Amino acid sequence: MQQLIRISEVFAPIHEEILARLGIGSAKRLGTEYWLFSRETPLDLSKLEAGLFVRWQMSVDHAWPCVPEQTEDFLEKATRALVRKFATSPLQQVMVSPLVAGSPHPVYKKLASQLQQNLRQEFCPPRARLDPEEQEAEALTLFGLLGKEGLFCAMASPRSCRGFYAGGSKYISHNAPHSISRAGAKVAEALHFLRLFHPALPETTRWLELGASPGGMTAELLERGFAVTAVDRAPLDPRVASHPRLEFFAENAATFLPPRGTLYDALLCDMNGSAEESLAIVLSKRAVLRSGALVVFTLKTHKAAGMEEILALHHRVLAQARRGGLELLAQTHLTYNRHEFTLFWRVP
Ligand SMILES: C[S@@+](CC[C@H](N)C(=O)[O-])C[C@H]1O[C@@H](n2cnc3c(N)ncnc32)[C@H](O)[C@@H]1O
Repeated sequence: MQQLIRISEVFAPIHEEILARLGIGSAKRLGTEYWLFSRETPLDLSKLEAGLFVRWQMSVDHAWPCVPEQTEDFLEKATRALVRKFATSPLQQVMVSPLVAGSPHPVYKKLASQLQQNLRQEFCPPRARLDPEEQEAEALTLFGLLGKEGLFCAMASPRSCRGFYAGGSKYISHNAPHSISRAGAKVAEALHFLRLFHPALPETTRWLELGASPGGMTAELLERGFAVTAVDRAPLDPRVASHPRLEFFAENAATFLPPRGTLYDALLCDMNGSAEESLAIVLSKRAVLRSGALVVFTLKTHKAAGMEEILALHHRVLAQARRGGLELLAQTHLTYNRHEFTLFWRVP
């Protein structure tokens, strides 16, 4: 069966090494970030170290290699073929994306959106109105990816593919009125991804945020109604600093002691510097995290040169977290991550 995976362009210099490490011998490149290859079963990303780099995966149930732009009646033909194939399937939603996101290929963006609309109308209209955000992680969705190489579709659960949107990227504006830095979009995307593996966090969630300045993530958490205790040596942007649900401590996170008696439901760490030192600081706060608390950690890899060093660092960080009593829930490379990954742990 044909398998399709996505690896961010950020890792372009090491794409070939990653594919080799995943055991993929020969693969056809689709767009800039996707690879198509033959394999009987999907890769088990949880068992492969290099699985960390894979943003999206799906087993291709329907492929139409063609140049859609030059194919007469492409939309009608594609819709008919997919309706024939999946008509009796219990689909919760249809999600189609272009293989290359953004402006370089507006034609495919438009075609993807039209195909998605056609298919949603065909597949059970009342359910097709379901908000993409309300999809269930384990129910079946028809995913499609479309580009100058053709159309590639799968009927699969968002969790098995690692995203609610085809390809895994949700568009998040970092120009929202409450936005202070790009990092706000990063935490929004992280919380969206988390829903694949964890129920949405209630508004009553109290966050401890380490490395908060200038406050992009803080603003995003506050916007969602959460309460935040933020810590950073550097100050917060005045637009967020006096928010009523925020307390801010301008100090070293390593020596910071939360106000007596306070327990947190979640911890967010976006501190720069050595990943292992940052994680040691996170683990030192273990006593103020409730059982079941979530830890969202940006694993910065700036100093790691090449795939092997990144994997070695990742390996050490996972071992350190295990020793510190954290259970790994999920890990990914988000659209808003550059040379870093986002790891999610749970306090048992
Ligand atoms: C990437 S920036 C954080 C961006 C921020 N999350 C946002 O959303 O705007 C990293 C921050 O970590 C802070 N930091 C690094 N080590 C720290 C420590 N030991 N104690 C307090 N702050 C620290 C730095 O001062 C810096 O502001």
